[in-house]
Amino acid sequence: MKVDGVPYRTIWVAEDGWSVKVIDQTLLPHRFQVMTLQSAEDAVRAIARMHVRGAPLIGATAAYGLCLALRHDARDAHLEEARGSLLAARPTAVNLAWALGEMTAALAPLPPAERVAGAYAKAAAICDDDVAICRAIGAEGLALIRAAQAAKGGGDVEILTHCNAGWLATVDWGTALAPIYAAHDAGVAVHVWVDETRPRNQGAGLTAWELAQHGVPHTVIADNAGGHLMQAGRVDLCITGTDRTAANGDVCNKIGTYLKALAAKDNGVPFYVALPGPTIDWRMASGAAMPIEERDAGEVTHVRGADADGTVREVRITPEASPAANPAFDVTPARLITGLITERGICPASGAGLKALYPERGAAKRA
Ligand code: MRU
Repeated sequence: MKVDGVPYRTIWVAEDGWSVKVIDQTLLPHRFQVMTLQSAEDAVRAIARMHVRGAPLIGATAAYGLCLALRHDARDAHLEEARGSLLAARPTAVNLAWALGEMTAALAPLPPAERVAGAYAKAAAICDDDVAICRAIGAEGLALIRAAQAAKGGGDVEILTHCNAGWLATVDWGTALAPIYAAHDAGVAVHVWVDETRPRNQGAGLTAWELAQHGVPHTVIADNAGGHLMQAGRVDLCITGTDRTAANGDVCNKIGTYLKALAAKDNGVPFYVALPGPTIDWRMASGAAMPIEERDAGEVTHVRGADADGTVREVRITPEASPAANPAFDVTPARLITGLITERGICPASGAGLKALYPERGAAKRA
């Protein structure tokens, strides 16, 4: 996608041929700045501190983190050590474990002298695959948006999304936003309700920025406004992403997704979740055991924003004596989900639905 007219991916290898460039998402929407990763430790920090975030991009960053680790030492013990620290950087998005699994499976059989080149080739392939997958999700979801427009007899299709599941969360295109970009580019009129997504405001800061860059009509709303808009008939469909999808179709996504799914169910608004195959955790039977990341309470007690003069400041919004809790994800049960939009088609949120699209995956295998 383009930033000020210049095409970007969210992660790429620098001109030196080895260091890794990413967009520093902690600075958006106030400043667009690229940061450089030069070691596995840099990659771990970038993931843990959310300079990069979003399930597919976390996986891609971990893949390049292994490349950087192997440049220092390509022997088995170091590969294993780096894999362990990258895996621990964030707990919920299964793409992290998936990408590290893909990398180690490709690298372990190679002699150490061939591992660095093998690692960069595999990480590049993971990124290219992600782009192709997200483009395919966009094409699948476009059909839904066209159908929604036909059902209402024309006009703007009103779509609500939560968090950021756009190109910034992937390598390019996004998951939940890919159908929206596909529709907009195809001339299908869409308007997006963007949940602010407290506490880190990925909707207000990242989704709104992306949509504005691409010229997609959108409106940022407080997290609590979605139910009201659905009651008022002002939402045609919801599309969100997911960080981990259980084998039965339950999805784990940014905190607050569940409440939107409940409101959608109560108001008869279709609720779709867009996901790439690597987000399916085939070993997890249901959402009951999803690892839910608990983040720093400071993300709840403080907010960051720009002054009128553009200076970015962080301010406290709670009494100093009040404790805060910060569960970062929640589980939306499959029964609340109208369908899963994947690169292979749209299926019911169920074990049978997923297996019909991914027949090669058994209950005991990881995607
Ligand atoms: O905490 P984040 O910003 O990494 O959470 C991201 C989300 O919850 C996205 O919706 C999810 O990763 C799907 S993105 C393609």
